[in-house]
Amino acid sequence: MNSTIDQIAQHRSIRQFTSQPVAPELISQAVKAAQQAATSSNVQAYSMLQISDPKVRHKLAELCGNQEKVAECGAFFVMCADSRRHRLLAKRANKKYQSHLEGFLVGVIDACLFAQNLAIAFESMDLGICYIGGLRNDLIQAQKLLNFPIGVYPLFGFCVGYPDEDPFKRPRLPLQAVLFKDQYPSDQEMLDLIDEYDQEMSTYYIQRGASGRTWSPQIAGFHEELRRGDLADFYKEQGANLT
Ligand SMILES: Cc1cc2nc3c(=O)[nH]c(=O)nc-3n(C[C@H](O)[C@H](O)[C@H](O)COP(=O)(O)O)c2cc1C
Repeated sequence: MNSTIDQIAQHRSIRQFTSQPVAPELISQAVKAAQQAATSSNVQAYSMLQISDPKVRHKLAELCGNQEKVAECGAFFVMCADSRRHRLLAKRANKKYQSHLEGFLVGVIDACLFAQNLAIAFESMDLGICYIGGLRNDLIQAQKLLNFPIGVYPLFGFCVGYPDEDPFKRPRLPLQAVLFKDQYPSDQEMLDLIDEYDQEMSTYYIQRGASGRTWSPQIAGFHEELRRGDLADFYKEQGANLT
């Protein structure tokens, strides 16, 4: 193919890192590249906080569900949707700042595009990365530690560092289960494709020493209960309008 596609296709999350820090120049290079991600109307509604204080990293590791990698990786960041700059500009221009769901979504989308570009940039430097959705386990406590101003919405953490493990790549759904031509497939077609994938995932889990596991039972159980039900209240407190 080409080296970019090869690079992207090699991704796997890294969860064990050596203690080697990531040099600030590498971080700057990766962030500059990541900033070139497309952004809705060039609003650039995201930002990222690097957490360098070891005590704060340890506390965040706990809050993220005792994920030690948060404290141990070479560099840890909190990725945010960010309307703060827009609010400052509105205020300076004596204009009203109207918070709305569209603005929130734009920030979330922008932050994700930036984050995934950043992931690829770091991986191209032979570093490993892991997104940390566990940050949303307890955003109220995370906010007490990090003091984000109104208009900044922490979304997830992001570990980067030198890998201290070499995990298998996790298989993905068949192409036909995510790329459709002209119309959405029937439910039965989709379920058949998933059965195919379950077989592949079951081989993957056997290789990892976790035989008996596969994908669909996991996903089927994933949405049985309300998860992180305090998110809307948290983001509203931070200034989001979710209607
Ligand atoms: C937004 C987001 C949040 C995630 N949160 C966590 C997390 O808290 N802890 C973790 O170990 N992995 C986390 N992951 C990694 C996923 O579990 C992983 O990407 C997925 O299982 C696919 O595996 P792979 O990245 O190795 O291909 C997260 C990934 C994303 C995109």
